[in-house]
Amino acid sequence: MSSSGNPSAPPYPVRIAGTGSYLPERIMTNRELEESVDTSDEWITSRTGIRERRIAKDGEFTSHLASEAARRALEQAGVAAAEIELIIVATITPDTLTPATACYVQQQIGSLKAVAFDVSAACSGFLYAMEFARHAVGAGAFRNALIIGAEKLSAFVDWNDRNTCVLFGDGAGAAVLLPSTNGGGKILSSTLGTDGAQAELLNIPGGGSACPALPGTAPVKPAVLSMQGREVFKHAVNAMRQAAIDGIAAAGLTIADIDLIIPHQANLRIIDAIVERLDFDRDNVFINLDKYGNTSAAAVAIALDEANRQGRIKPGDRILLVAFGAGLTWASAVIEW
Ligand code: UT7
Repeated sequence: MSSSGNPSAPPYPVRIAGTGSYLPERIMTNRELEESVDTSDEWITSRTGIRERRIAKDGEFTSHLASEAARRALEQAGVAAAEIELIIVATITPDTLTPATACYVQQQIGSLKAVAFDVSAACSGFLYAMEFARHAVGAGAFRNALIIGAEKLSAFVDWNDRNTCVLFGDGAGAAVLLPSTNGGGKILSSTLGTDGAQAELLNIPGGGSACPALPGTAPVKPAVLSMQGREVFKHAVNAMRQAAIDGIAAAGLTIADIDLIIPHQANLRIIDAIVERLDFDRDNVFINLDKYGNTSAAAVAIALDEANRQGRIKPGDRILLVAFGAGLTWASAVIEW
């Protein structure tokens, strides 16, 4: 049984005042993976579109990636870290099971009066965070919010499993939300959905209370990503297509009104299937998965920042963000820039 809906808009509109992203320096190419698992650059590129991914250093955790992306978003928004009142980090690769990665970020960037917590909604997490932060700011409960999608997936991948290790990468993206000023941009609509009946299709089975990593024992199931790729692929195409349609309708728009689509960056074939079904111009779809692979909750956030900084989004443009991930979860948001 799945549930999906368009939350109503908050009392006051909310805009994205700044974006930022951070990718670790280390590049791991497909050719490099050929040396460790039975795969090929040709297979990875033709089946996924991924050419390389970034890998965080030892000692560089999800919170560090998140904090660097946050600093860049704050700088662009012109908001001091000390003024931030709410921090939500979307991640499935937290530094620790508790406390939340957002608590580490609060200290690292010096947002000492912020309320901080994590959202676990996998690849849809950044858009889940955006929607709840939009309501928190739009209702006047908080004057601003810092939302971050951040992952160190390299720490939760079985590097001997060719089915998964070629797909994922590390990185972080962030955005600062403020009340919308007269004539400025705003988030127009959002769609969120969940289908817990499909939880087994994509998960990290070990390390939680169902299969704990206790002292002196190895967990029976490893704390690494496990995925039934083909099944997930089909759900991803259907759910993202529908989330796009619902989000655009909730904004009172049609697909012809959308200037740029920023989709979750998991697989180029998924993106192509959605764009074709939406009858949308492929040139107006932002794609960077060739450089970073699938960075889960960070993917849409990084792509949004790159599109913004590359001048792909102009004031007044309407952009559609759409994501899908473990849960299963899906989400979309339509933003007037
Ligand atoms: O971010 C959350 C959402 N995640 C996604 O949306 C991912 C969705 N799934 C996918 O993107 C694709 O299903 C994958 C990229 C994971 C796999 O592509 P596929 O075209 O569905 O391949 P497949 O799983 O059907 O496997 C085809 C063949 C298999 O061999 P046989 O059984 O046909 O002999 C696999 O063993 O490809 C083999 N294979 C590989 N070969 C070389 C699987 N991984 C690899 C690999 N290198 N890395």
